[in-house]
Parts: sequence; C-alpha cells; structure tokens
Amino acid sequence: MTAGPPIHDLHFDEAPNVETKIPGPRSRRLLERQEAIDSGAVAYPKVVPIALEEGRGSTLKDVDGNVFLDFFAGIGVMNVGHSNPYVLEAVNDQTSKLVHTIDFPTEARLEFIEAVNDVAPPGLRDQCKMVFGGPSGSDANEASIKLAKQYTGRHGLLAFEGSYHGGTAGALSLTGGVKYKAGYEPLLPDAIHVRYPYPYRESLSDDDAEAVCPRGDCCGRMSCARSLEAVKEKFEGPYSGHEPPAAIWVEPIQGEGGVVVPPKGFLQGLRDIADDNDALLVADEIQSGFGRTGKWWACEHYDVTPDVITMAKGIGGAGLPLGATLYHEQFDTWGPGGHIGTFRGNVPAMRGGTAAIEYVQEHDLLEHATELGEYIRSRLQDVDSHLVGEVRGEGLFVGVELIDEDGEPSADLVKAVQTRCYENGVLIWKAGREGNVLRLLPPLVTTHEQAEIGLDIVTDALRAATSGDLP
Ligand SMILES: Cc1ncc(COP(=O)(O)O)c(C=O)c1O
Repeated sequence: MTAGPPIHDLHFDEAPNVETKIPGPRSRRLLERQEAIDSGAVAYPKVVPIALEEGRGSTLKDVDGNVFLDFFAGIGVMNVGHSNPYVLEAVNDQTSKLVHTIDFPTEARLEFIEAVNDVAPPGLRDQCKMVFGGPSGSDANEASIKLAKQYTGRHGLLAFEGSYHGGTAGALSLTGGVKYKAGYEPLLPDAIHVRYPYPYRESLSDDDAEAVCPRGDCCGRMSCARSLEAVKEKFEGPYSGHEPPAAIWVEPIQGEGGVVVPPKGFLQGLRDIADDNDALLVADEIQSGFGRTGKWWACEHYDVTPDVITMAKGIGGAGLPLGATLYHEQFDTWGPGGHIGTFRGNVPAMRGGTAAIEYVQEHDLLEHATELGEYIRSRLQDVDSHLVGEVRGEGLFVGVELIDEDGEPSADLVKAVQTRCYENGVLIWKAGREGNVLRLLPPLVTTHEQAEIGLDIVTDALRAATSGDLP
C-alpha cells in the first residue's frame, strides 16, 4: 500500500505569492465583520490580519488569493498538511457512515487506539490504555489530573514555570502563564510551579551542577540541577509547604514558554523523583508530540517513559478536534465514567488520526522532520546577528529567541519580523515568556524547496531587523 501522494504533490504550487497589501480588501472586510460579531476573546487575526479561504499541504490561501507558506500549521496541528487527500478520504468515508458514537465501540475507534499504541514509547506500548473526554488538549490534561488524583489519593499538582497546559480550570491551574489566569483565580488549590531549566537564560557555568543535582547521574547542566533540586524539595522537603504532589506535569520541550529544550538529564531526573515518591510523571505532548520533533513523542529524545502522555492538536489528522490521554494500564483503576464528556472520541477524527499515522510512516516523515529541522536551524544560525540570542528546538519544533541591543528580550522585534514575514508570504508564530521567541512549526510534509524559500524570507527579515530596516 502507498498511503496517498508524495509530499511534493500536496501544496499550492505558487506559494508564496502575495499580491495585495496585507490585509487585502476581502480579508479586510471579513476582519471587520468578525470584529463586529465575533468574541472579544478572538486573538490570532489581531496579530496576523488575514481571512483564510483554502489550505493545501504546507500552504494556505487567503480570501484575496494570496498564497502563504504556513510555517505555523494552526499551532502545530496540521502535521500532515492541510487537506491531505489520504487523510481526507478516510475522514470523508467515515463521515458519510457514522460520526458520533459517544464511547460505543467502532472499528475506527479501536483501530485508532491500536495505531497510537503501536507508536507509543517502549514501556507504554502494549501496556497502555487511552481515555477520551472532550476534544481538546486541555481536556486531555483534565483527564490526567483526575487520573493522578484518584490513583494516588493525593491532591497536589506540580508543574513548571513557563508551561502552558490549556485553558480549562484544571489545565489552567497547571499553566505557568499568569496572563491566562488573570481574573479567573482561584483555580485548583495545591497547584505549584517550579523552575523549568532554561539553559540559554540561566548561567551556563556548570562547575558545581553535580553538587546541586539530586541525581547520582548528573548531566552536568546547572539549569537542570537547580530545577531538579527544586522539584525534589517540593516532594521531600519537610517545610516545602505542601503535601507531596500526586504527579508532575511536564512539557518535554516547552512550546508556548519559548520552545525551551531542557538539558538531557532533566526528564530522567523527574522520572527518578516521581518513582521515589510514588507520583505519576505526565508528559504533556500536546504540542511536542505526534511527530513534531522527529520522533513520535518528544520524551523519546530522552529515553524516558512517562506514566501518562496527553495528546491533541495533530492527532485528529485532518485538523479535526480530538484529545486523548494515554496511560500505563496499571493506573486504569477508575470505573465507568471516571472521565466523562459527550464527545469522547470523534469517529471521523479517529479515522483521520489513523490515516495520518499511516501517512507519516509510509512517507518517512519522522526522518524528514529531523533533517528539515536541522536545515532550518542551520539557516537561522547562519544569520549571524547580535539580535539572535539563541536558535533551538528539535525536528520541526523551532524557536529563535530575539534580544534587543541591550540583550533584553524583545517582543517588538518578534512582531516586526513576523509582520515582514507574512507580508512576504510566510506565516510564523511567536512564543516565550516575554513574547520574544519566533516559533516555527511547519507541517511535517513541508518540502526542502519550501523550507529553502521560506527561510530566505525569514532570514531576510532577521537581517533587515539587524540593520534597523524594519519599522
Ligand atoms: C503543551 C500544550 N498543552 C496543552 C494545550 C492545550 O490544548 P488545547 O488548546 O487543544 O486545549 C496546548 C495548546 O497550545 C499546548 O501547547
């Protein structure tokens, strides 16, 4: 079987091709209509002012006919590209038969669970269960909170500064970003946040990391040692101020927080602390998972098996909403209704997810993502600008931290570069605690030629910023 067309055939040929000012006249009209009737909570078009018409592969067409390279992919959702015909065929076939089944068994549901099991990390593969509640990443994290609480009988939640885990009350409690919580607190009690290693920002002096690190097998990075020490203190410190948490929630690579890649030993350190304290280790792979980093799950870069993986975004294949929580079967001690929701697994989305897994496998997209990510990072590193603090990431999860002349985080620079990029036909996003990180999340089906053209535009924008030529 060949799963659908090769990646070169998935896109609008002419991308990028911008023929109007952005926003173009039709986009402007839709943006104005939206402003009049849609919610004040709408955020994305305020930053990138376009109205969308059609997507194919790694390209997006707006209502004025401008064609963009989509290096943002709906925040890392469209891993196999917009309207991937192989995935759409599976989705449409299912949609014409049956869409909603709550959690009654269907071939589509069971095949999807089996397909995800087959790509689960060793240690979970063939020993896992999956729960579906609501169709979002936030809900997947809600499920993990319930699971950890009911299994351990404890209430505390430990997460990290710089994290993003979602917008519902439990997931928001785990989230580090204070701006998302403002006005909505109190949320869940006993949610605590400790520092996440941030090698670029923290002192890189690693002289005494071993002395600080609570693990015997130290990776030698001070930022990692300090963070692990803080986590251990929250579990074991007699005056830590909290009962030991039920679980640790961690993004193996922080997305919203700035595409922050922790040192090698960090996840293993968390694994050890969780084990020592009978707590669960929950990897939030909602952004980093499903092939984004060149492996199915980012935790595989660290050879660590979490107890629980939460996933969403790309797993619905065609961009259909689907969230799921995968966990070791030993934690499957809850009964019927342990996690609930009307939309506990959308059947066409499950078909889409299974087809997406097949497409990734048949077209070697994990390897492709690894190679293309290296190429993209090397192009960004070559810019040689004092405004580029760090280029980092794994696979097609790429961050560029921008700083001003004084070395301070600069969200204004990110905005200026992002604007120049969309004016020239490349959509990129931002991230970071201070909004000063360019975030590139191209679909895994992005071709080398598209990456080359896209990076010409991104690097030109960075050079223009460096020579003061951006407004
Ligand atoms: C790491 C992470 N966790 C959770 C979420 C929340 O997912 P959703 O927006 O589907 O609720 C996100 C969304 O960006 C995320 O990046």
